[in-house]
Amino acid sequence: MKQAGGVSRYTENLSLTPQIIVLDTGGQYCHLIARKVRELGVYAEVRAPETPAAALKAVRGIIISGGPASVYEENSPSVDPALFSMSVPVLGICYGQHLMAHLLGGRVQKGDQGEYGLAYLDVIAPKGPLRGISGKQRVWMSHRDTTVAVPPGFEVLAQTSTCPVAAMGDERRKLFGLQFHPEVAHTQPGGRVLANFLFDICGCVEDWDPRQRIPAIEEQIRQAAAGRKVFFFVSGGVDSTVAFDLCLRALGPERVHGAYVDTGLMREGETELVRTNFAKLGARNFRIVDASAEFLTSLAGVVEPEVKRQIIGEHFVAIQEQILQSGHYTDSDWVLGQGTIYPDTIESGGTAKADKIKTHHNRVAGIQKLIESGRIVEPLSQFYKDEVREIGRQLEIPEEMLSRHPFPGPALAIRCLCSREETPVRRAHDGYLLPVRSVGVQGDSRTYRAAFALPYLPSDWQLPTELINRHSEINRVVAVVATHTPVGGLRSFAATITEERLERLRRVDAAVQRLSQASGFDRTIWQFPVILLPVGTLDRPDSVVLRPVDSVDGMTAEAVRMPDALLEHICRELLETEGVSTVFYDLTHKPPATIEWE
Ligand code: XMP
Repeated sequence: MKQAGGVSRYTENLSLTPQIIVLDTGGQYCHLIARKVRELGVYAEVRAPETPAAALKAVRGIIISGGPASVYEENSPSVDPALFSMSVPVLGICYGQHLMAHLLGGRVQKGDQGEYGLAYLDVIAPKGPLRGISGKQRVWMSHRDTTVAVPPGFEVLAQTSTCPVAAMGDERRKLFGLQFHPEVAHTQPGGRVLANFLFDICGCVEDWDPRQRIPAIEEQIRQAAAGRKVFFFVSGGVDSTVAFDLCLRALGPERVHGAYVDTGLMREGETELVRTNFAKLGARNFRIVDASAEFLTSLAGVVEPEVKRQIIGEHFVAIQEQILQSGHYTDSDWVLGQGTIYPDTIESGGTAKADKIKTHHNRVAGIQKLIESGRIVEPLSQFYKDEVREIGRQLEIPEEMLSRHPFPGPALAIRCLCSREETPVRRAHDGYLLPVRSVGVQGDSRTYRAAFALPYLPSDWQLPTELINRHSEINRVVAVVATHTPVGGLRSFAATITEERLERLRRVDAAVQRLSQASGFDRTIWQFPVILLPVGTLDRPDSVVLRPVDSVDGMTAEAVRMPDALLEHICRELLETEGVSTVFYDLTHKPPATIEWE
């Protein structure tokens, strides 16, 4: 929860009490569990694993999430063992099951082999969360450790070919464990399993519909603002737009001010879209600050991705500080509005990187001062992204604003690749080594390596991973999908971020987004970055990379195969664009690559 003074100070009066608490043992799926529970209409919140049992007595049920640790490792996350003896039903998922087994007298050990991905669940006893589920069921697994002996009082409810205890339970004490993940879409009976736990075992009642929370949110805003005015920096993204609109409704346009910084690094039409949309919302005190010349000048001659990021971050901070000071927004009659959403308010291992990439937006000194003195309103701090979208729909915010893909803070700067020198493409291992490097992630560290181009689109999408495992000089594999010149004849050119290249990138990006939206493809994926590479020929010095990906949270991602007709259409348009030599298709998952190229 946020510090006193924020919206959450009023949670006792205006917020619901959670029926279900998810204890976060560090897995990337902990928020997915809470989201799924809420989708079933039951209000759930996430808490730290060490939360004392006494603080959880009033809830209807507890879910212990999965996590990357091993129960036998030193300092691995644990829960208060008293949880299991207070007559509140508990469901342990993956690591949560291991903890339950470990703490209650069963046995967990490292499996002979891991079990990752799809598995077939054999239901032995259709009881507890498995009630009404029988035969073989497709489930999603991700574990190496295995429960080999259930604790006294428990029975085995299901198994798979490699996992002897895929589900276990003690019906008398209402304690259950699942090795598989009911919260992921790939687990066929996932919804049924969770609903059984919530409604049959815990006796939950439906109490959650984010749209019905709007009057309560508005009241929270009025209380937190306490007669003062609210100032927002908006990005044009979903969260800050919805948060701003809620404040407008709660306080009226005179008391809600906002500013949008145009860095000149945005997509085609973005600034105009923000202007039109905020006018439509009825914002009267909304400014667009044009800082594009400043950003472009400061990026002149810069090639290294980390330097780009640093410069953009510093400029952002300086400009935000100027705006805050010039408008006297740090005076005592102002509070700061932010579009912070629920996962951002929870400390958890899985989001450590997300915290880092957002630092430069939220840690301006003036902002820090407002936060420290409790002068902050975060109307969406209770909600997940999908819920924010539902609220936005209820508020009749245009759908094109709500269904947008995530877009990085440093914007097109990290999609406009730069190069120091002219170097020819080199033939290697049945393909080509491109003379540009991009960022990747292997293990826990970032890599900065060359990209490898296959001359064709492979039918086997395992091939890129195998190539990267085999050749340590590359971290990314692309396919050549259309080109004016045979790839062997291309070269990299010395190039940085210029208005000309940004304009080219804006044009190709707009074309790709338009075609992807028209075909409905954009609704099936998480994000569709389009990257400009300084690789080509003298008259066509740049190439374009298509990077459609699917993901749950951006931490890991899969490269996605797009329909042939869409790909052909995109290639045709891009090859007609001035200055564009070749179209590449990025086939690499994250890891080993990242989503952005930088
Ligand atoms: P990577 O490239 O690390 O990106 O795989 C993961 C997700 O984060 C987005 N991203 C950012 N978002 N500020 C942001 O708000 C940033 O600096 C930033 N860098 C990357 C990226 O678009 C992807 O969705």
